[in-house]
Amino acid sequence: MTDANLRFPPAFLWGAATAAYQIEGAVREDGRTPSIWDTFSHTPGKVLGGDTGDVACDHYHRWRDDVRLMADLGIGAYRFSVSWPRVQPTGRGPAVQRGLDFYRALVDELLTHDITPMVTLYHWDLPQELESAFPSGSPAGGWPERDTAFRFEEYAGIVAGALGDRVEWWATLNEPWCSAFLGYGSGVHAPGRTDPAAALRAAHHLNLAHGLGARALRSVLPGRAQVGVCLNPSAVRPLTSAPADLDARRRIDALANRVFTGPMLRGTYDDDLLADTARITDWSFVHDGDLGVTRQPLGFIGINYYSPAVVSASADAAANGPRLDGHGAAEHSPWPGADHVSFHRAPGELTAMGWPVDPTGLTDLLLEYTAQAPGVPLFVTENGAAYDDKPGAAGQVHDPDRVRYLHGHLTAVHQALLSGADVRGYFLWSLMDNFEWAYGYGKRFGAVYVDYDTQVRTPKSSAHWYAKVAASGELAPPDQEGER
Ligand code: FCB
Repeated sequence: MTDANLRFPPAFLWGAATAAYQIEGAVREDGRTPSIWDTFSHTPGKVLGGDTGDVACDHYHRWRDDVRLMADLGIGAYRFSVSWPRVQPTGRGPAVQRGLDFYRALVDELLTHDITPMVTLYHWDLPQELESAFPSGSPAGGWPERDTAFRFEEYAGIVAGALGDRVEWWATLNEPWCSAFLGYGSGVHAPGRTDPAAALRAAHHLNLAHGLGARALRSVLPGRAQVGVCLNPSAVRPLTSAPADLDARRRIDALANRVFTGPMLRGTYDDDLLADTARITDWSFVHDGDLGVTRQPLGFIGINYYSPAVVSASADAAANGPRLDGHGAAEHSPWPGADHVSFHRAPGELTAMGWPVDPTGLTDLLLEYTAQAPGVPLFVTENGAAYDDKPGAAGQVHDPDRVRYLHGHLTAVHQALLSGADVRGYFLWSLMDNFEWAYGYGKRFGAVYVDYDTQVRTPKSSAHWYAKVAASGELAPPDQEGER
């Protein structure tokens, strides 16, 4: 079989993904209030170049054109997130109709073009008020506070009420690992706190929010709706097979993966995780009954994958690597209780993020989740790469590295399918260049190039290549970039 005839199932969804704060802009319009990312990005020194999401891709005003662009590229599914502070400004109480109307119109436009919407309820933009206005006696609010999970439950019900008649695919959270451990552990993400105990509390309350949110969604949505979650599991590998390195792998697997899959899939926090972190917290924030709530039936699991992690034991606590897949250099560790673990560069070429290209991690994860959650369909809900794309003289953007990256990873998905994984679709990260969190606009992940001065969108050669793959359901060789 040659590359040219790697065929995907006919119903396979060929998608692209974005997130609200990364593309919408219009941060002060129609009643929207600041999220923790507005506050964080406006804090000097937190985001490279002082970039903020104030304007981003101006998608809030250009959404109709953006949907048309997707339709022209033959994209079959679009994963976007709803901005919580746009639809429920203070994170409590009544919804803002204009906010909900925006997403309703967006969904209608997608459906008109036969593009399947997938909604993510939470892609990191917590209303600032839920972080700042904390109950008396507690150090601060946000995800380390139990109440935030109940606020999310209410918000989930609001969005389901507004979009439930037209959206089938629903994800509660995007990458709760980043929210908890980058937001409250290493502090390289909003709200920028560096408190290991708070990071673990946040992880639990995100698990609880997922469970409460899934229940709230199901109480409103029609039976055909599918409720899932998007995780960024780590394909974590030991540097050697020495027992100490295997133990390092076990620790990181607990903190990166099982801290979420335990409560969500099995209704438990594993003993080794509790033991590894016992010096930091006694986990008394896990109340009776919580682990029944966190374990809800899943209509799908979304896997976000970029790169594998390689770890070893280290005698030197300072060697602890900054983070799983580098959203910013950190002085504080995002790995509570894993001080003596070192992170190493996996083999392979590097993307502009410095992330090694290794598609085998994606096959491994898809097969691992097939085994862990039998019968639960999987999606690749994010996969892609940043490169230093620059328009050529005629304005065209040629990005052969990204085409190779996508080709390699789609081949990895195909391999997982052949080995029995029930993968229903793939969402390229990202539809277009956007605000890459702590890296600002310097990192371009888009299949579509965005000129931030003019907001002109130009499909890169990877977009044309992907369009061809989506149209045929066959993996075209990477050298067939298909200029139109
Ligand atoms: C993921 C995020 C997404 C984007 C990619 C590159 O962790 O979910 O918003 O930043 O990384």
